[in-house]
Amino acid sequence: MELLDWLASWLASWPGATWLRGSGTAYLVVNAAHILGIGLILGAILPLDARLMGIGRAPLGVVGPLLSRAAAVGVGLALLTGFWLFTVRPIHYAGNAAFLAKLALVALALVNVAIQHANPAYRRALAGGAVSVGVRTSAAASALLWLAALLAGRWIGFL
Ligand code: HEM
Repeated sequence: MELLDWLASWLASWPGATWLRGSGTAYLVVNAAHILGIGLILGAILPLDARLMGIGRAPLGVVGPLLSRAAAVGVGLALLTGFWLFTVRPIHYAGNAAFLAKLALVALALVNVAIQHANPAYRRALAGGAVSVGVRTSAAASALLWLAALLAGRWIGFL
């Protein structure tokens, strides 16, 4: 337990965390950037997953790479700002069931992204080929996992 306490106090003492604890404006900007990251993720991934599941007729070769990259920017921003927010109150969040559930869901969603991108059938689909059952299933799992991460994230503030 001592190691965890030390880690938490070390994390909480870095200048970025001290700054956010001392400045409401800085905190709201970083929190807003976290929400922007989440918005980019959901705003890009849900349309892409819907298209992969057969909804709509937008050419996958055009929208696929664009939405994929937008989602990647969102994930990067959400991870960076999320970790920064975490260091403001690490012990509090580490004991928050919603926060832990969200981290688990985000990890599962990222593993699913890796599986989808490693699948040659996915690249064929983005090149305009037929969308396989495996790609559709992974797209459905992606939509459910990111939506669940959104709910768990919002739930943090209620616990
Ligand atoms: C990458 C996917 C992520 C998603 C979809 C996500 C989602 C969310 C959502 C919906 C909120 C609530 C925002 C609000 O209402 O103010 C939130 C807040 C938060 N997230 Fe994330 N998050 C992600 C990654 C992370 C990571 C990686 C961490 C930390 C390592 C993190 C730490 C936090 C913290 C500390 C809060 C503030 C909670 C509070 O006090 O209200 N997030 N997140």
